[in-house]
Amino acid sequence: MKVIPVRHGGGEYPVYVGKGLLAMQGTWDRHLSGRVLVVSDETVAGHYLERLDAALGSVAHRKVAVLPDGEDQKTLANWQKLIEALVALAAQRDATVVALGGGVIGDMAGFAAAAYMRGIRIIQAPTTLLAQVDAAVGGKTGVNLPAGKNLVGAFHAPAAVIIDVDTLATLDERDYRAGLAEVVKYGAIRDETFFAWLEQQAGALAARLPDALMEAIERSVQNKAEVVAADEREAGERALLNFGHTFGHALETATGYQRYRHGEAVAIGMSLATRMSELLSLAPTGTAERMDHLLQRLGLDTTLPSDQDPERLLDLMRLDKKNMDDQIRLVLVEKIGRAVLRPCPVDDIREVFRSI
Ligand SMILES: NC(=O)c1ccc[n+]([C@@H]2O[C@H](COP(=O)([O-])OP(=O)(O)OC[C@H]3O[C@@H](n4cnc5c(N)ncnc54)[C@H](O)[C@@H]3O)[C@@H](O)[C@H]2O)c1
Repeated sequence: MKVIPVRHGGGEYPVYVGKGLLAMQGTWDRHLSGRVLVVSDETVAGHYLERLDAALGSVAHRKVAVLPDGEDQKTLANWQKLIEALVALAAQRDATVVALGGGVIGDMAGFAAAAYMRGIRIIQAPTTLLAQVDAAVGGKTGVNLPAGKNLVGAFHAPAAVIIDVDTLATLDERDYRAGLAEVVKYGAIRDETFFAWLEQQAGALAARLPDALMEAIERSVQNKAEVVAADEREAGERALLNFGHTFGHALETATGYQRYRHGEAVAIGMSLATRMSELLSLAPTGTAERMDHLLQRLGLDTTLPSDQDPERLLDLMRLDKKNMDDQIRLVLVEKIGRAVLRPCPVDDIREVFRSI
């Protein structure tokens, strides 16, 4: 087991990465307090609730809230159900919420913990690769509104993050690959050595070999921890984590959130953003080819589907939060391992769309 500390404005918390951690009572006991509400979704509860419940055996007052799975469940209505479950448990200020699931459960349970009695303890136990390397670390919580994703939320740092890599064995292949896209992102924006290691280990990672997987998660969490420590509230460096996301979000919106997993859209977005970097002579020739090659070896598509209208994608990109003064600002790479935020001419973006 590896322990990675995450420093933030309010202190520090550990991220544990290892095998069999869900059932390891000692790790849980160190971080639990008061009454405990475990929050999960139906799929994850079916696989792992029993294992976790055995480890929480010493907690006299505990309750489980299981929600249906899916992004469309990340709602204020379900958030309210979690608050009501805390009330029914007679949870006090010392109570703990445990989020057992992917990013949907982590964000929603985290937001319930942030709001209940103005903030109680949350332990994140992420079970998707995306949640392990990204969503569970950094303290962003929230829910969606019909008007948009993550429109309501709060920063609420966890007391601990417990990553049991064994849980990835049951993860659907597409969700797994989508998580790998976010792993590649850390290498691309700030860690060239990690990117080169991913190139060496692509076969092992595509096959989910445990040693490679554990190291990929540890190095991703380490990168995320450093970004969060430097810029918890996204005033600077944390914005670079949006590499590939402006293109990706536009693609997700244009396809009604039906066709792509988030990470799949981000992979196409990273490919486009790297091409853009070459087009503006920011990155050396060959950088985009290197990026595409790694993504493809990890089973990720890097092509823009031919039924997508570039002008519609451009319109959607104009709505992005990072834009200023009507320019489209994109996270680009100067080389693999170094990212910058740059305003981009719309005509150049059109050219990049034509190129893939
Ligand atoms: N807070 C943040 O910083 C942050 C960062 C990135 C993404 N997010 C959020 O994360 C969410 C996406 O997270 P996600 O991709 O984990 O999706 P998810 O939580 O919907 O999980 C995907 C699917 O996998 C299933 N699943 C989860 N773990 C499993 C396992 N071990 N075995 C089998 N099935 C399993 C779930 O039931 C679900 O059906 C989005 O809502 C996004 O906004 C938050």
